[in-house]
Amino acid sequence: MANILVIDDEPGIRTVLRDIFEDENYSVFDAGDGLLGLEILALETIHLVVLDVWLPGMGGIDVLKKIKHDYPDIEVIIISGHANIDLAVKAVKYGAFDFLEKPLSLDKILTLARNAIAMNTLKTENKQLKSSFLAEDEMIGESEPMLKIRQTIEQSAGSDAKVLITGDNGTGKELVAREIHRKSARTSHPFIEVNCAAIPDTLIESELFGHEKGAFTGALSNRKGKFEIADGGTLFLDEVADMSLSAQAKVLRVIQEMRFERVGSETTETVDVRLVTATNKNIQKEIAEGRFREDLFFRINVVPIHVPQLSERKEDIPLLIKHFISLMRKSENVETIRFSDEAEEMLINHDWPGNVRELKNFVERVTIMSGEKIIDLETASGFLNAKEGNRKSSSNPLIAKFADMKLSEARDEFEKMLLLQKLEENEYNITRAAQSLGIYPSNLHGKIKKFGIEIKK
Ligand SMILES: Nc1ncnc2c1ncn2[C@@H]1O[C@H](COP(=O)(O)OP(=O)(O)OP(=O)(O)O)[C@@H](O)[C@H]1O
Ligand SMILES: [Mg+2]
Repeated sequence: MANILVIDDEPGIRTVLRDIFEDENYSVFDAGDGLLGLEILALETIHLVVLDVWLPGMGGIDVLKKIKHDYPDIEVIIISGHANIDLAVKAVKYGAFDFLEKPLSLDKILTLARNAIAMNTLKTENKQLKSSFLAEDEMIGESEPMLKIRQTIEQSAGSDAKVLITGDNGTGKELVAREIHRKSARTSHPFIEVNCAAIPDTLIESELFGHEKGAFTGALSNRKGKFEIADGGTLFLDEVADMSLSAQAKVLRVIQEMRFERVGSETTETVDVRLVTATNKNIQKEIAEGRFREDLFFRINVVPIHVPQLSERKEDIPLLIKHFISLMRKSENVETIRFSDEAEEMLINHDWPGNVRELKNFVERVTIMSGEKIIDLETASGFLNAKEGNRKSSSNPLIAKFADMKLSEARDEFEKMLLLQKLEENEYNITRAAQSLGIYPSNLHGKIKKFGIEIKK
């Protein structure tokens, strides 16, 4: 089952294409211009776009470029009148799958659509396969606690026992979850991650269990939830303690039997999913204070894995440093560098409050910026202190908040703060908030979803 988006300004063409695609059991969306088409792409999972090359407003080529930039795996079939055939040829150069001339041969467009969708499926599968072999995912560490974690993973690899991973920020919980999946018999099936903290309460049910077309405003098509997508594989519920109590109740009902209904549907779906969860919160405290259901805790905590802070396994630090340098060399093409013995000693004794993530960021920064082959104590502490010094002394409180982040993280954080501010100012009226931000309401909806902003009523 695939979703097709038709972008054409001629209503007649939209209707014809909708009819023939729907006859073949595809779900069809359509748009009369490029901007609307791009909005639909932001909100829906689309597998194929059929795009008229000659469009009013934003031209077909520009729409194509934007699609290929934002969603490189989505295939685009161009349709064009005889007069614009040169544009269609150009479109193929920009990454379109193929083009067809009007008047359209319905047989041809169906065959082409089938091939393009097959290509899209291949690309997605290929990506999934590749990501399961990434060196980036390799779990490094020979310390006592890491050996114990490996052992627990091996022991539970053959079973479908539910695992709860706990540990501070940046200790490597997600990596452990991926390792559990990789070592299990489910490794050739999907590993699906859900960040429970990022999904607003109103959407979590649909996100996890899916929905039927028309179940609520905005449910434009049938959509699988993460439980169904993970069928046969592993579902990783990250930040599980951040789920609301009502969401916890729903999940509790489902996980014992792995049976559920999509929102707005009567049909019961059955899936075969292994559940792995993680949290950086003290879950006993969450239970004691009434924020986490004890019965859910017992269900998900069959195999507990605690990932200790980096300062409690200092012997892993040199191994991790080496590992991160070699990752950088591959991705950034930088030269082999290493730390002097004194510098390494200093890094081993450092506290690393941000744990492995902080160490990784530090190594990346030094590798790219120092320009030295052997980083000595002075340079290394210079980089460490500069960072801490900056954080303390930044005279601009706005910047201080972002000082530790990469540009992409800072940009997202800023965008989220501004959206929250505007939403509050406008009493959570989406249309007015969007207006004051100068964006479309649907675009704001997309961002609210992306950032997991809760809409207060
Ligand atoms: N043992 C390890 N070996 C190699 N890399 C690691 C290891 N532990 C963590 N990392 C790397 O450190 C970074 C943070 O790890 P990860 O995202 O798994 O932490 P986390 O515990 O899920 O953090 P958070 O609580 O913030 O979600 C990632 O880039 C990860 O690849
Ligand atoms: Mg994590």
